[in-house]
Amino acid sequence: MTVQHVGPTFAPVLAAIHGAAFPLEGWGVGAFQVQLEMHSVLGLLDDRGGLVLLRVTADEAEILTIGVVPSMRRQGIARALLEESLTRARILGVRALFLEVGVRNHPARALYEGMGFREVGRRRRYYANGEDALILCVRLSPAE
Ligand SMILES: CC(C)(COP(=O)(O)OP(=O)(O)OC[C@H]1O[C@@H](n2cnc3c(N)ncnc32)[C@H](O)[C@@H]1OP(=O)(O)O)[C@@H](O)C(=O)NCCC(=O)NCCS
Repeated sequence: MTVQHVGPTFAPVLAAIHGAAFPLEGWGVGAFQVQLEMHSVLGLLDDRGGLVLLRVTADEAEILTIGVVPSMRRQGIARALLEESLTRARILGVRALFLEVGVRNHPARALYEGMGFREVGRRRRYYANGEDALILCVRLSPAE
């Protein structure tokens, strides 16, 4: 299995992947450590070079970040990470999973659309470069 649940000791690994996936806005090791120490935050690592952080609050959850290193893209890593996120969220009783994506981030938007996410809102000029953010959501049925 390539996707695993990781705790704070994996902060350096996640920070390295995040820095490669988001060269202009990578989070540092400390930021991952703080996030992964929170009980509400779930970190998943794909050892081929991908990560996702998910924050669960009662029956809602939010993808805080998801990224794959450039050399390993288009191999299904992000889809695998999202599928595992959806499975775990459902088991935790989550009924709606949200995320935010730049309107011009076409690879990410295609990924999310293919996973069933739908637009539920827009934050105008949300990012520093003036780009709008879309709020996407997928509804989950209860785990059996
Ligand atoms: C968006 C991102 C996470 C996708 O990761 P990935 O591992 O390459 O995605 P996958 O291989 O799992 O792709 C799954 C599907 O998403 C869509 N997709 C992914 N990348 C795409 C691209 N460049 N162009 C068009 N569609 C794309 C496709 O439908 C793809 O399915 P297919 O390959 O069978 O056609 C990756 O490009 C990335 O890390 N980008 C920089 C960070 C980022 O923008 N994160 C999201 C912030 S909201």
